[in-house]
Amino acid sequence: MKRGEGHIAITGASAGIGHAIARAFARTPNKLTLVARRRAPMEDLAREATASGVPASVIEADMADLEQAVAWVDEAESQHGPIDVLVLNAGIQKVGPALSFSVEETEAMFRINVQAPIRLARKVAPAMIARGAGNIVIIASMSGITYTPQMADYSASKAAVSAFFETFAVELKGTGVHVLTVYPGPVATDMEKRARENLEEGFLTRAIPTGTPEELASLVQTALLKETPRLVYPKVYGAARFARVTSQWLTYRFAPRART
Ligand SMILES: NC(=O)c1ccc[n+]([C@@H]2O[C@H](COP(=O)([O-])OP(=O)(O)OC[C@H]3O[C@@H](n4cnc5c(N)ncnc54)[C@H](OP(=O)(O)O)[C@@H]3O)[C@@H](O)[C@H]2O)c1
Repeated sequence: MKRGEGHIAITGASAGIGHAIARAFARTPNKLTLVARRRAPMEDLAREATASGVPASVIEADMADLEQAVAWVDEAESQHGPIDVLVLNAGIQKVGPALSFSVEETEAMFRINVQAPIRLARKVAPAMIARGAGNIVIIASMSGITYTPQMADYSASKAAVSAFFETFAVELKGTGVHVLTVYPGPVATDMEKRARENLEEGFLTRAIPTGTPEELASLVQTALLKETPRLVYPKVYGAARFARVTSQWLTYRFAPRART
């Protein structure tokens, strides 16, 4: 990614990691499109950004509706030109025994976490390839590498989406289009707070290294400039990628149960 003057579109920009990424880019000379269902937090940020000389627009879209999930791209590109950096961050998590969720809940999570980002990548990538430049960032999860009890559906969705984007990255080598797959462990957001509230407290929930959305946002910016293929955060979880079998065994053995 080159510094400045690009169009950066971020899904799930109303809260947590997506909001922090949007805020970090609001300090750079780019144009921003912020996408999610809750308008108010995005409008506050867009107003601040625009006032400081960074044009920013807000578009409401529900990623569970696969037509809405991609329809916003045309409006965004007519406002700010072709998307140069697409940050696929919107996601939901369900914490509890797999059988406690309805089929409808599970399928909605797969639409938001897997199908919507893949459809969005398919929509923007051809034009990026034609221009010989572009960046796609997918916010996956460490749960897609080390599967997490009480998060069976979530782990499956993140494993699927990271498999797609890691493979897509290889296929795009030489086209000028760069894909960054991000693997956050716990990061202090509303999602992480809800997960803790749903799990029994124990050694692991107390001791587990947890990052901040702001630090992750800054690392995403650096990874984009360096065009690195993946980012694990907090860094300590990098070990789990290399010692996958051990990390999976430890997680199955010591993961907390859901609160009853
Ligand atoms: N926090 C963690 O510990 C952690 C760890 C690993 C991976 N992640 C991943 O990081 C990403 C961001 O998570 P977060 O922790 O920042 O969560 P968060 O604070 O709950 O924010 C989630 C964002 O996604 C958006 N979103 C959710 N459902 C949506 C829908 N149907 N349509 C459009 N947007 C939707 C939300 O916007 P609206 O509600 O306004 O629509 C919000 O902006 C997710 O993909 C998550 O799986 C998080």
